[in-house]
Amino acid sequence: MIEKKSQLSKLPFDSKQKKQIKNSFEKNSSFCCIQSEGVSNIVLLLDTDKNAAYHRENYRQAGARCCGMCNDASWESVQIANSGSLSDGHLLFAEGMALASYQFLKYKKDAKKDQNSLKSILFDKDSTDKKSISSLANVLEAVYQARDLVNEPLSYLTAPQMAKEFQRMGKEAGFKVTVWNKKRIEKENFQGLLAVNKGSVDPPTFTIMEYKPAKAVNKSPIVLVGKGIVYDTGGLSLKSTANSMDHMKCDMGGAAAVAGAMFAIAKNKLKVHVVALVPATDNRPGLNAYVPGDIVRMRDGLSVEVLNTDAEGRMVLADGLSWAKNYKPELVIDLATLTGAALRTVGPTGIAAMEKDSGKHLDQLRTSGENVYERLFEMPLWREYGEMIKSEIADIRNLGGPFAGAQTAGKFLEHFTDFPWIHLDIAPVAWSYHSEGYRLKNGTGAGVRLLFDFLSNR
Ligand code: BES
Ligand code: MN
Ligand code: ZN
Repeated sequence: MIEKKSQLSKLPFDSKQKKQIKNSFEKNSSFCCIQSEGVSNIVLLLDTDKNAAYHRENYRQAGARCCGMCNDASWESVQIANSGSLSDGHLLFAEGMALASYQFLKYKKDAKKDQNSLKSILFDKDSTDKKSISSLANVLEAVYQARDLVNEPLSYLTAPQMAKEFQRMGKEAGFKVTVWNKKRIEKENFQGLLAVNKGSVDPPTFTIMEYKPAKAVNKSPIVLVGKGIVYDTGGLSLKSTANSMDHMKCDMGGAAAVAGAMFAIAKNKLKVHVVALVPATDNRPGLNAYVPGDIVRMRDGLSVEVLNTDAEGRMVLADGLSWAKNYKPELVIDLATLTGAALRTVGPTGIAAMEKDSGKHLDQLRTSGENVYERLFEMPLWREYGEMIKSEIADIRNLGGPFAGAQTAGKFLEHFTDFPWIHLDIAPVAWSYHSEGYRLKNGTGAGVRLLFDFLSNR
């Protein structure tokens, strides 16, 4: 990798080869394939950018592109040599490569045939230390796991099955996993989760994951809450827009992100105490399903008028947030594929972020977003949005008006918080409708790298 044509002179090629590379760069190509001493080389001319986030992202995107070339050429391993200006450029490049090489072949009969050839990425001995490589590998593995979870269909990944996957991940990475069954959920009065589950034949689950290292930097934990709707039909307010249900297995993208983050921090043994909570069920219009007009009394006594059973995410998250109080948390971050409104506002590359009592936490999270290119767009939690979810018959309703759908959802959740809290609506990014660089079509695993970066800077 080089950033300027002038760097060509330093590369270990003879003058004839350098001429060939120069020629291809002059023809407006940003790469050149060249044989030298029996080894195949790809020389890449990277795009630079004054903006640090873009500059770093260019390395990842170059890696993604190179991954395609390697697999097309049936290469099994590749070694990265970085002559660019970023000292961690080789790691960014590897990150892009590995993220682009992900495949979900579990349901293919001829999986072997379809499998990418690329198996390993090597580095120059003196370009990096083992620790940063293994740290990156752990994070990437966590992203793969999160993507797998999102890509699994409901026919496999019911709420109880997802809880089992969390237990497996906890065992592998080293964090504690407790799974509540329906009885326990009833005992703790998780009425939002139980209401959404009423139309389902599969029971709900509530999973508590905890990673508590000795000598953690924080006295009280950071709590993550992930929306775990394993499938969202809309319930009786059935999703009726053409194709809008096709990818609704992604509605546990928040759950996948927090479990992936737990996996990454535990594997990397970060010195930070973190708890992750996942209320989970599918949302279906089965026989006894909750109906528009129902009133649900939540565990803290607040009553909710249900006006649209498709606004189910906030119902289950409310219970997760309300349980988070027990930890007297330093900070709570929830991740949820909550609203189409967020997607329409931010577009498919950004996360809608809302913070109670604006302050330092969101600034830090925003910086992490720029670092890993999972960028945040802040939306306000104005009190006027709160007015929009007032109910005549109950305390609040689960549906806002025609405006500001992402913010009224945020306002709903705020009722169940009494701690520093950030809400991330990841509906825009959890699922990708087509492949673009390393953001492959289907489950993206969005949120894992963001949370890991944030928690490793705590
Ligand atoms: N799971 C959806 C939101 C969603 C939309 C996720 C697109 C991923 C991609 C959520 O449960 C939902 O149905 N939201 C409704 C809320 C409305 C009924 C207030 C929406 O956004 O339309
Ligand atoms: Mn819904
Ligand atoms: Zn949903």
